Amino acid sequence: MPLVDLDRFDFLYANRVKGMKTAATRDLMATLSRPGIISLAGGFPDTRTFGEEAFHEISKNVAADSAQALQYGPTAGLEGIKDVIVDVMEAEGTRARQEDVFITTGAQQGLDLVGKVFLDEGDAVLCEGPTYAGALNAFAAYRPRVIHAQTDRAGMMPSVAREALKKARRQGVHVKFIYTVPNFQNPTGVTLAAERRRELLEIAREYDLVIIEDNPYGMLRFEGEALPTIAALEQESGPEADRVVYLGTFSKIFAPGVRLGWVHAQPGILHKINIGKQGADLCSSNLSQMLVYAYFQNADWRAYVKRLTTIYKERRDAMLDSLAEFMPKEVNWTHPQGGLFVWATLPTYIDATAMLPRAVSKNVAYVPGEGFYAGGAGKNCMRLNFSFVEPQNIRRGIEILAEVIRERMELRGDLERGVRSAAHMPTTSPMQRGR
Ligand SMILES: Cc1ncc(COP(=O)(O)O)c(C=O)c1O
Repeated sequence: MPLVDLDRFDFLYANRVKGMKTAATRDLMATLSRPGIISLAGGFPDTRTFGEEAFHEISKNVAADSAQALQYGPTAGLEGIKDVIVDVMEAEGTRARQEDVFITTGAQQGLDLVGKVFLDEGDAVLCEGPTYAGALNAFAAYRPRVIHAQTDRAGMMPSVAREALKKARRQGVHVKFIYTVPNFQNPTGVTLAAERRRELLEIAREYDLVIIEDNPYGMLRFEGEALPTIAALEQESGPEADRVVYLGTFSKIFAPGVRLGWVHAQPGILHKINIGKQGADLCSSNLSQMLVYAYFQNADWRAYVKRLTTIYKERRDAMLDSLAEFMPKEVNWTHPQGGLFVWATLPTYIDATAMLPRAVSKNVAYVPGEGFYAGGAGKNCMRLNFSFVEPQNIRRGIEILAEVIRERMELRGDLERGVRSAAHMPTTSPMQRGR
């Protein structure tokens, strides 16, 4: 279909659509199904590890109460699953209260609802740079300004965050919340240091902001000490949630296919989120909630998470080892202690978006870095996923990627040499002069 047809109703679209773009990661999913491709682009947990038998078992439980499974449910979610969530949060050291838990259709819906509840056009959000592209996408519908605070190997830099907030206040820009993915961040794999978590909480108190703590990966730790969630740190000064809005999900510890996540927050915020969700989808699927409930009640979910981390660690190691073996010395990358991703930074003159077709033609895909920033940074960066690919394919994929990068570097070298010798060349050649 010609593109002009797609835009036939341009004059009818809402302004908010103009700020929205499809996530590069979603577009790239099409490449995943190409035969022979080694996709380091996805953000997929490896659901192949779950097994048909186990799935069959939990499905039987749900079928036993088919009438409820097939029915609408309460907007805030079924009671049983909230108990499961209290246990899951406890396993990460956060004392959650059942009444502060609200079920969403994936953490992604939590992000959208947070945008819906807090953001007016022109408000600002402060987030890591780079940050989760899906959050940028969700917030974009509400047309905020996005302020990125620089991230180093210990996560968002609080001094930079504070400066940004000071500047925004001077300019009369209303920053509504700080958005952070504190553990094994998507896309960098970086973890926010414990003292920085405390400092961010301090900053939020100082500026009277909310913190959106989006924590899909916290339980996928391969090594090192688990750090307290920001929600847990907030509990040091009182048992109730206050300004930390915690987003959790079953996607990475169980399965993204159930599309279930949750918000843990104080009642006032949850009330607004409830209203927002009623307009979005009335309630999350009972069927999914009952499936997850049956699994967490009857199976050793901690053992499954442990198994996942063992598999992912092996794959992370394969990725780090092959990066060290194959990449030119000008390329840098992060060393995540958990999660699904490594973030690589190439020489500044390489545009990872422009390079992608070449990589795909050689059967490797990655996600270019610019989609993780609002406003054009990150062009020379890429996100590499290790959770979904077997170690030998990771190795082969990184080897090919290194060749593609080297090709670009050599091209640049040739161009520079060309420019230098052109600068020393006479404007007309002796032969031309002789004619
Ligand atoms: C940081 C982050 N937040 C939220 C999500 C959305 O997760 P869910 O599958 O629960 O919607 C993802 C998915 O990859 C993510 O990486």
